[in-house]
Amino acid sequence: MSDPIAEAARRRTFAIISHPDAGKTTLTEKFLLYGGALGKEAGTVKARAGRRAATSDWMEMEQQRGISITSAALQFGYRDCVINLLDTPGHRDFSEDTYRVLAAADAAVMVLDAGKGIEKQTLKLFEVCREREIPFMIFINKWDRPGKDPLELLDEIEETLVVEPTPVTWPVGIPGDFRGLIHQDTGEYTRFERTARGATMAPETIVDPSEAEKLDGEWWSSAQEEAELLREVGQVVNKETFLAGMSTPVFFGSAMTNFGIRFLLDGVVDLIPPPSARLLADGDHRKLDEPFSGLVFKMQAGMDKSHRDRIAFVRVCSGVFERGLIATAAASGRQFSTKYAQTLFGQDRDTVDVAYPGDILGLVNANDVRVGDAVYVNKPCEFPALPAFAPEHFMRIRVKDTSKFKQFRKGIAQLDEEGAIQVLRDDYLGDQAPVLAAVGQLQFEVATFRLENEFGAPVELSNTPFTIARKTNAESTEQLQAMQGVDVLKRADGTLLALFESRYWMDRVIADFPDLMLERMVAEGGLG
Ligand code: G4P
Repeated sequence: MSDPIAEAARRRTFAIISHPDAGKTTLTEKFLLYGGALGKEAGTVKARAGRRAATSDWMEMEQQRGISITSAALQFGYRDCVINLLDTPGHRDFSEDTYRVLAAADAAVMVLDAGKGIEKQTLKLFEVCREREIPFMIFINKWDRPGKDPLELLDEIEETLVVEPTPVTWPVGIPGDFRGLIHQDTGEYTRFERTARGATMAPETIVDPSEAEKLDGEWWSSAQEEAELLREVGQVVNKETFLAGMSTPVFFGSAMTNFGIRFLLDGVVDLIPPPSARLLADGDHRKLDEPFSGLVFKMQAGMDKSHRDRIAFVRVCSGVFERGLIATAAASGRQFSTKYAQTLFGQDRDTVDVAYPGDILGLVNANDVRVGDAVYVNKPCEFPALPAFAPEHFMRIRVKDTSKFKQFRKGIAQLDEEGAIQVLRDDYLGDQAPVLAAVGQLQFEVATFRLENEFGAPVELSNTPFTIARKTNAESTEQLQAMQGVDVLKRADGTLLALFESRYWMDRVIADFPDLMLERMVAEGGLG
């Protein structure tokens, strides 16, 4: 068993965030290729994702809908570091989990499509990073094909995210004919060569200026001028402002052809902070060498029909985790065994025996824990509450067969507690027909599926007119409820949410009644 401080110093734990199709999956795969975790050829991530053992009902649902619900973390080595790459589920599987994953990360890498710049979902994820004070770097992908001008992209980043973009690398060659990258630290120009299907690492050659002039002429000289100008005006990486969220290191490349992947991984190792003492709810910190503690950032239930197991995904925050230790869940105060600790790679699970700060564990049958919970040994601790994210989809739910009402109520309470979906109630319909609120449609599908299969309570969902919610208080409720197109519902924790039919209508209410409390929740979309 090693020293947790020394092991933590070798860890880099981060999430990749992106809009669907920007290249997150391809980049993840190339990280594994450069980390040596795939042998010499890429292509395994997709292959593994496609190889679904048809043994559990959960996987059946994944197969039917072509989605991956069971996401987790990948671990691989690079240089002398251990990289923990957290998966943020994308497009159709977008849910609160996508946001919560960021609570377990020390940094994020935002992938942008060079042709599209900053897109809607990236902006929402960015907002979560900012709220949680997570530093982020940007990888501008797909430089191998026509896209926007690099300086134009820097402007877009600066204006939209209100952060200074500081290029680490600068591209040579027009988009669509990508030759190589100038590294801003060394000024060196590295040329890359394509390989068949990008399945192996791209051969690199460092060329001197006269050679570059001959090989890439005008493209080299104009890139060189731009790169130099950026250095002169001081638009270069600054670790301090990066960690403070005021600047963002920018890398250019192509995940498909592997150009620039190595520079990005070097950036991960050199710039992303290793795990450090974790802030606690009481304002104190849990030091790395204190007894084991971890943050539950996601629950996964009902994955296996024969076991009905629940997996708590835990980020180790302090100490050394050894499989079999008896941990306590902070919220319930109950103890549980960690005999079945696992690391997860899509559907593949491996047993994990030891883990250090920054690592991600899947604890099977940790039934008494909930999302946001701390698990610990010896010395109790609690982490600050995870924020509630702004729901955008609202459906009313009822049990189909009233004789199954008890099962329905139990199931709803369970989903609520796990943080699988937000459950909102009003005084009239209460538990009979609560409103489920979600950040992504998939959350409804999962809830319906689980209520039916796990709790034996088939349900029906009906649309509501609402599209946006804000936090409110008891004083504002009466006035809001008297308005058309507004309703106020309550979460189990007592929080009151005002639901509006449209953003337009909400903005009018805010403008006309400035005294009402209507507080924005995290990742509502748009900045402000
Ligand atoms: P995602 O996980 O962010 O949703 O994106 P993903 O990696 O699946 O990539 C989306 C599409 O973009 C894929 O094409 C992928 O091959 C392509 N792509 C990713 N990186 C690059 C790049 O650097 N350059 C170019 N030109 N394309 C890139 P697809 O046609 O949807 O799928 P596939 O048939 O290629 O797998």
